[in-house]
Order: sequence, then C-alpha cells, then structure tokens
Amino acid sequence: MSTKRKNPFTPGYGRFPPYLAGRETEQNLISEQVEALADGDYNVTDITIVGPRGAGKTVALQWAALEAGKKKRSLFSKKRTPQVVRILPDVLKRKEDIPKLFLSPKDFDIDTIETGPSGLRAKWLPIGNSLTGFFPRLVKQSKRRPLILLLDEAHSLAPELCGFMFQIVQAVRQEGGLLLLILAGTPGLYGVMARARATFHERGAKISLGLLEPEAAADAIRIPLAREGISIKEVSLQRIVADSQCYPYFLQAWGKALWTEANKCALTTLDDELVNHAAEEVNAIRRGLYEDRRSQWRGVDQRFLIEIAKAVKIRNSFGPEALENTVRNILLGQDRSEDETSPLIEKLVATDFLWKPWGSTHFIPGIPSLVSYVIESEEGSGEKFAGVREPMLAGGLAW
Ligand SMILES: Nc1ncnc2c1ncn2[C@@H]1O[C@H](COP(=O)(O)OP(=O)(O)OP(=O)(O)O)[C@@H](O)[C@H]1O
Ligand SMILES: [Mg+2]
Repeated sequence: MSTKRKNPFTPGYGRFPPYLAGRETEQNLISEQVEALADGDYNVTDITIVGPRGAGKTVALQWAALEAGKKKRSLFSKKRTPQVVRILPDVLKRKEDIPKLFLSPKDFDIDTIETGPSGLRAKWLPIGNSLTGFFPRLVKQSKRRPLILLLDEAHSLAPELCGFMFQIVQAVRQEGGLLLLILAGTPGLYGVMARARATFHERGAKISLGLLEPEAAADAIRIPLAREGISIKEVSLQRIVADSQCYPYFLQAWGKALWTEANKCALTTLDDELVNHAAEEVNAIRRGLYEDRRSQWRGVDQRFLIEIAKAVKIRNSFGPEALENTVRNILLGQDRSEDETSPLIEKLVATDFLWKPWGSTHFIPGIPSLVSYVIESEEGSGEKFAGVREPMLAGGLAW
C-alpha cells in the first residue's frame, strides 16, 4: 500500500461516501423523479427527506445532482439535462430573496449610479426583480431547461418562506414549467412544514433516513477497503458494525481510522488488534459529537435530559402520548410547569435526541447511544465510551 494514497473515507457533513450503502430504495425514488423531469414530465413528485444529523440527507441531495448531470443521458437520448440549483436557508430570509437564486449576473441592470466615499457606486437591480416579474421568467426558464431545486437544511427555513416556495413550485408547474423540488432537513422540518400550512408534504414523496441495516453498514466499510486492496476479518467487521450502531457518520469515522492505521503499518488484512487501535480516533470523534448535543441542554434542562434518557433506555421507543406523559411526570418531579411539555419535546427532536420517521407512530433515538452517553455522563463513567462496544445481539440496538 502506498503511503501517498488518499484516505477514501469521508467522515464529515455533506461529503459523498466512497460507497453509498443501503439506500437503494431512496436512490431509486430520487432517480425516477429526476429522470421523469429530464424526460419533460411536469407532473413530477416533489420529495422531502427527513432524518437526524449525520444520516445522509445532504448525500441524498448530492445523489439527485449526480443523477441530474449524468453523462449517459445527453449522449444516447433526447432527454434534457436538468439544471440544478442548490439552496441553503441562510440566503433565503425574505420572499424577495427567492428570485436571486435563479438569476445570473447578466440578468442584472444598473438601476442608479451614485457617488460615495469610495467613488462611483452602482446599484444593481435584477431584470424583472419583482416577484411578479420573476415568475414568468422562471416558467420560461424551466420550460427551456428543466430545473431541480435542492433545498438543504430546510428545517431552518421560516415557515412562511417554506409555504411560499411550495406555492411558487406548484404555480410554475401549472404553467407547464419543468421543476422538481427536493427538500432535506432534520426532524424539526415536520414543524416547519406544519406551520407553513402547505399541502405539499401530503402530496409529495417522503424519505426518512435513519440508521442503515447491519449488512449495508458492513458494506460501507468493507467495499471501499476492498477497492484499496485491504480485507478485514469478518469478526472484526462485525464489531465495527455493532459499535457504529449502523450510523452513517460513525461508519465513515471508523473507515477513516481503520484506513489510517492500516496505512501506517502497511497492512492489507485488518483484525481486532488494528480495530482496537483505530477505536481511539473514533471515540474522540464520537465524544465530540455527543458532548455537542448534550451541551445544548443546561442546568435544570440537563437534569431533565438525564431523566428522559433513563426512560428511553427502559422503553426503547415512545408513542406521542406516552412521551407527553413521561415528560410531564419528569417536569412534575422537578417542580416545573406542565406548559413546558411541548417546547421540551420539540427540543428533544431539534437536538436529535428523539425523532419519529414518516409514518411511524413512535419516537426513537436519533443518534445511537447518545442516550447511554447522557446517562453515563451523569454517573461519571465516560470510560465506557473509550473502547469498542461489543455486538448487541438480543433486543436490537442498545441506546
Ligand atoms: N448510505 C451511506 N453509506 C455510507 N456513508 C454514508 C451514507 N450516507 C451518509 N454517509 C456518510 O455519513 C456522513 C453524514 O452524511 P450527510 O452529511 O449527508 O448527513 P446529513 O444527514 O446531511 O447530516 P446533517 O443533518 O448534519 O447535515 C458523511 O460522512 C457521509 O459520507
Ligand atoms: Mg446535511
């Protein structure tokens, strides 16, 4: 193995993994809609992707962009390659910001020229800058070339703007424009959608991204290593799968650490000894992530979090009513008002502690073993997170 080779693994947010594991159904759903749009079908289904941090939402959006740009299409078919516009909510503060997303510098006209302290200053005005002027342009543009809007981090979008985006998309389509909207966000997006009062999410396709299946988690490590000429003993791989709890972000962290260790010792077969070495780096990453989540809770709320963690550990999942009752009881024990129930449940969701996949009746933990970390941090036994956790066979995942 050459020491100059680049580590193929990509622990980090929004970085396309060396092998996209276990998301075939979701990939197919996205590809179908992208193909339909490229085919000139304006009756496409918009898609909303929801999942906790690190589950692969941005990667799913990147998949849509890759599908849109794939070479095969322009060579062998009459389909039109869609234009992809990526949007982040921080550039969308007001309705008037929306046209800017679609305009290039040549679409701007000089409005006024003023003399200022640093000489002449031109004020630029987009051609057709008003929302009403912008709308026909968007219809025309999307008829000429299909347009895909990828809106990431959509949970931080103001609900009014979210609703407005949906209206524009619907209206453009009604005028025969070729437009596909794909939104991605943490489970906080449910609340934004509900407040946007849009029928969008009822009609659109929904993708929940949670943990991978164990076989897919193993592939996420095994396949990229194999491409590098490295094999891993099955028993060691299974330890990694169990330790990662099939969480995509941890799997990339594991892959990177394994590759680094293997590269150091020029090994081509990985075993438990190497896994134990690699665990140090993985644990540092994991502790950082857990601490980040835990530190979003302070004082009496941190005590509340510990109590809820204990309840989750016993029950594994909660129906909405059971969750409300549990939160209310903890609040009672803390001499706090019941009125805090809903805001606290919202915060549990916003901090990835609990989430509810589409169609599921139960809340489950968002990031694996954050629950155990919170409990153990109270007991001061953080060392449990220092080694590789052994496979948990009975009863599914140990949160
Ligand atoms: N199916 C997968 N197989 C292997 N690795 C994956 C998969 N999906 C995501 N990853 C990896 O997991 C990490 C997190 O992915 P990504 O950034 O897309 O998550 P996210 O849901 O957008 O997180 P956030 O909410 O923080 O933005 C990245 O390192 C990515 O490469
Ligand atoms: Mg992301």
